[in-house]
Amino acid sequence: MTVDATQSRSGYTGTAKTLHWLIVALLIAQFIFAWTMPGIRRDTPVTTLISLHFTFGVIVLAVAVIRLLVRLVRGAPAPEPGIPAWQETSSQIVHWLLYALLLIVPLLGWINADFRGMPIIMFGYQVPHLIAARTPGWQWTGDVHGLLANYVMLALIGLHVLGALYHHFVMRDGVLKRMLPGR
Ligand code: HEM
Ligand code: HEM
Repeated sequence: MTVDATQSRSGYTGTAKTLHWLIVALLIAQFIFAWTMPGIRRDTPVTTLISLHFTFGVIVLAVAVIRLLVRLVRGAPAPEPGIPAWQETSSQIVHWLLYALLLIVPLLGWINADFRGMPIIMFGYQVPHLIAARTPGWQWTGDVHGLLANYVMLALIGLHVLGALYHHFVMRDGVLKRMLPGR
């Protein structure tokens, strides 16, 4: 991936940091809605919490698309000096898997809401359908959406956060500071 020379000494740009922490905040809200909303079955009405889950999920998708475009165009800062190659490679793998999940998870949720015939109303406007209700072959999307979010995404986020904290408190290097305000 390209390395942006202007970022190489100073960590991530303000835009990259803002988008990173905005997605963290949105995901915290999103998991709270997911875990407190009523279990979604056939004919479950779209309650306020379910509607908030849909709305925040579509916002996560939109912000993730913008973030990915910024990342592809601007690149990332050069690696911190002295980071072993295996850590560099494994952190890159986790980052790209997280980007992929930030697109796949909300898209599957959206498709599943359509499959169930549940309207997705954002700020009073109905969001377009990706598939028609009960389209054969799309029933699995609900289970896979929940499993990917609850297990795969959260496990990767856990690894990612542990890695950041390890660098900051054990290695005492500048990795976490690259993503914090003020550097
Ligand atoms: C990154 C964004 C999202 C995350 C992290 C997320 C997370 C989750 C989680 C964890 C569950 C399972 C709840 C449980 O444990 O019972 C769930 C269920 C669900 N979500 Fe999302 N969600 C996201 C985006 C969306 C979007 C954009 C929509 C629709 C517009 C959506 C629609 C649904 C539906 C319909 C279910 C029920 C699926 C089923 O059980 O069959 N989600 N979501
Ligand atoms: C408290 C929680 C979090 C902390 C402390 C944290 C910390 C960091 C740090 C320090 C970096 C820069 C790593 C480097 O320079 O090599 C980073 C990058 C990244 N983080 Fe997080 N993060 C957190 C939560 C999340 C969450 C929830 C997601 C998404 C689901 C996420 C996705 C990413 C991605 C994709 C990158 C790579 C940026 C790039 O180079 O394109 N992070 N994070």
